[in-house]
Amino acid sequence: MIPREVIDEILSRNDIESLVGSYVSLKRAGSNLKGLCPFHSEKSPSFTVFPKDNSFYCFGCGVGGDAITFVREIEHLDYPDAVAFLAKRVGINILPDTDAPSGGERKIDKERILKMNVDAAKYYHAALFAENEKARAALRYFTEKRALSMATIRHFGLGYAPDGFDVFTKYMLSKGYTHEELVAGFLSGKSERGHYYDAFRNRVMFPIIDVSGRVIAFGGRVMDDSQPKYKNSSDTPVFKKTRNLFALNFARQSCAETMILCEGYMDVIAMHAAGFTNAVATLGTAITADQARLMSRYTKKVIISYDADEAGQKAAVRAMRMLGEVGLEVSVFKVPDAKDPDEYIRTFGKDKFRAALDASKSKFEYNTDRVLSKYNLDIPQEKINAIAEMSEMIAGFYSAAERDVYVRAAAKKFGVSADALSRDVERIVKRNVKTYAKEQTQKIRQETAGFSDRVNADFVKAPTVAKNEESVLGLLLLFPNHRRKVFEENMLSAEDFFTEFNKKVFLYLQEAYKNGEDPAARMNEVFTPEEIGRLTKIKLARMELTDNGDEVLTDAVAALKASYAKKQAEGTNTYEGLNALLANIRKSTEE
Ligand code: UTP
Ligand code: MN
Repeated sequence: MIPREVIDEILSRNDIESLVGSYVSLKRAGSNLKGLCPFHSEKSPSFTVFPKDNSFYCFGCGVGGDAITFVREIEHLDYPDAVAFLAKRVGINILPDTDAPSGGERKIDKERILKMNVDAAKYYHAALFAENEKARAALRYFTEKRALSMATIRHFGLGYAPDGFDVFTKYMLSKGYTHEELVAGFLSGKSERGHYYDAFRNRVMFPIIDVSGRVIAFGGRVMDDSQPKYKNSSDTPVFKKTRNLFALNFARQSCAETMILCEGYMDVIAMHAAGFTNAVATLGTAITADQARLMSRYTKKVIISYDADEAGQKAAVRAMRMLGEVGLEVSVFKVPDAKDPDEYIRTFGKDKFRAALDASKSKFEYNTDRVLSKYNLDIPQEKINAIAEMSEMIAGFYSAAERDVYVRAAAKKFGVSADALSRDVERIVKRNVKTYAKEQTQKIRQETAGFSDRVNADFVKAPTVAKNEESVLGLLLLFPNHRRKVFEENMLSAEDFFTEFNKKVFLYLQEAYKNGEDPAARMNEVFTPEEIGRLTKIKLARMELTDNGDEVLTDAVAALKASYAKKQAEGTNTYEGLNALLANIRKSTEE
């Protein structure tokens, strides 16, 4: 491995203008240079060199990158040989690095990280009982504001991360953990200036423990209204947030029949304290297929008890679908007169909660109530709309027998004939079959077309999402302040990316940021020239825009999340639709 500083030196001495100029005849065009592309045949020059940031890009064929990429392409060399080629060109001698155990990549040991997490959990827990005003405030937050007993605090191993730049990091170093281990475990971060700081500062802490009792991650909450409210460990060598559930280590003892799924850590803790020890929560993300499968290994039935607001109820509808797909029986419980289960229990007590929970609704009842609450059935037009929406909902059910039962129930509610309603429902079922077939053909066509995008084969599967991803990546590639914002504040994680290639780029940038490196530093080590060409294009697209401020970043991130969520919703719809419609197709061909 050639040391980073040597590569930087090689790159700075091989200025791109003279390097490319020795292969291509270049002409000035403003602050850039243009020429005929050496990588594809063209009559008017679209090959451009940007001396300002030592890069090149061909707007005709998409080849681009830095001096190393250029040499890889033009001399057909692999990465190390391209570096050697450039070193020789400017008279730098690269010694073969033989014994360099310190410089080389040290493997991060999972067992060490797990042990480190236990020590961290102990530290945070002890810090909650420290003799100083800030620690006392943290303890009061739990006991007074959240009404938790000491027993509950101890049971969940809750803690406090002190307010300081690196008090915790220093303590962990004194215990023998290295900076690398602390960063890999997401307990410390590294600033662009190379200082290590505590990842969690002045937050009350929730250790996340897996079913085998290992401390795998942490969540930390502010004690006031500042943002972000919760900070959670990113994925680490021992933690994948989409595959674990908060409190499953306790819930597994009592969830054989029923499990309660909540949105927040605090909801779970309140439920356990009130005796509902079968409650779990996802870890700051919407429920995933992995989590649904995990739950199906431990229980038969899940009661979803999300926040009462519209966002919570939308998420509940989605969770209902995910859990249904793995064969779990599902019902939904919306707390009345409170924003979430935690608040409900604190306000009305556990007995009221138990009674309300027992009356939780089946999927059909829940959906029916949702539709009915939107319309005034005394007004004919609204009643018609309500019937239409109900018909759509019932048409989504898999079995004809189920549809029949629901049609009768709904017909009674609306005071219409079951026959009429049934005809409406079956018409929708037929229409869905047609739409579905059309969508499938379209999808196949798109997927075949996808083979032409060799760098990002997923692009055509969700062009809107992919474009939004590129928009965010462009900002990250170009601006250190945006990188800081996204990676320090966990605005995004790899899960927010749909296309594999863009996800890889995101992870690369995150890693570079963690290591305090410029994004260009290892580009040639990690990506093929073709891929680097794409990255250059993504960067240039952003460079052209005059406004790339903070708001633009926030908007781009929001647009990405929204489009991906939409795509996911469509994706699962199609999947659920698949079974139902295949069954219907079979049925209609039998008739
Ligand atoms: P809530 O805001 O509903 O959480 O978010 P909560 O536990 O009820 O919060 P408080 O303490 O009573 O106000 C639900 C979950 O979403 C994640 C956390 O896992 C939280 O428990 N979340 C929320 C984050 O990861 N980051 C945030 O900024 C907010
Ligand atoms: Mn809450």
